[in-house]
Amino acid sequence: MESLNYDKMSKYYDETRIFNQNCFNKAIDYIVKRFPPNIYKKLFEPGIGTGRISIPLALRGYNIYGIDISTEMLKILQKRLDQIKNINFVYKKADATKIPYNTNEFNLAIIVYLFYFIKEWKKAVNEIIRVVDGPIILMHTGYGEEVPFLNERYKQLSEKFGFSIKNIGVKSTKEVVTYLENLGYQTEWIKDKWKWKSHIQLNEAIDYLEKRAYSFSTFPPEDIHVKVIRNLRNEIKAKYGKIEESIEVTNQVYFGIVQKKPS
Ligand SMILES: C[S@@+](CC[C@H](N)C(=O)[O-])C[C@H]1O[C@@H](n2cnc3c(N)ncnc32)[C@H](O)[C@@H]1O
Repeated sequence: MESLNYDKMSKYYDETRIFNQNCFNKAIDYIVKRFPPNIYKKLFEPGIGTGRISIPLALRGYNIYGIDISTEMLKILQKRLDQIKNINFVYKKADATKIPYNTNEFNLAIIVYLFYFIKEWKKAVNEIIRVVDGPIILMHTGYGEEVPFLNERYKQLSEKFGFSIKNIGVKSTKEVVTYLENLGYQTEWIKDKWKWKSHIQLNEAIDYLEKRAYSFSTFPPEDIHVKVIRNLRNEIKAKYGKIEESIEVTNQVYFGIVQKKPS
């Protein structure tokens, strides 16, 4: 598989990838203040999805240019755009490893988890630095409706029942940052500013796993997936006495801002 297209996950995307609105708004304020839209006018988002990040940025004055390989994610984006007037927003169905834009076309980029889903992620990085003449913001948005230990257990059980879930692209953003640093870029981490705690119901988190709402859960064949979900439910019941237990998850929005080193 060259890239993971989010078509199958699109149905549950927006309801599962939620964040604390106040923290998100403050993080957006930070971007707007540091890279004002009157100077960094043309903002590129490869892997734009449903516009979760770029629509709020467009409302703050950026001219947005997005690409994505998922027709279904882009359909949802279009529905959202239909409800909004007076924003500058252009998107295309295109692959980040072959970006249909000119060199140095954009002033700023924002990217959310994209390199995890592209086998030839270095090719995508090379393409992005070709078209962006300015800072590249690598954004982390938190866990949404996910529970990290359940995700890990899902992967372990899948392996136990005979299907090993492999990474498609990078295992962590650090790999992307190291690659860019070797190309003469520097990174500044903006962390621990926008944190919150969410309370997630384990049964609901398992329901979303069952619906294969997350990238790793799209891979196992149906028979193994069904067995994994059944086991997860039994394990939670055995541990908490009931499946409706709620768990606290610590979240934050943070950025790695990558820029060319001054020469
Ligand atoms: C985690 S989602 C992020 C969506 C959006 N940026 C957000 O934060 O809500 C990753 C997106 O990257 C897209 N994608 C995966 N491989 C891609 C590629 N090679 N080129 C362009 N988009 C890609 C997927 O279809 C998906 O919409």
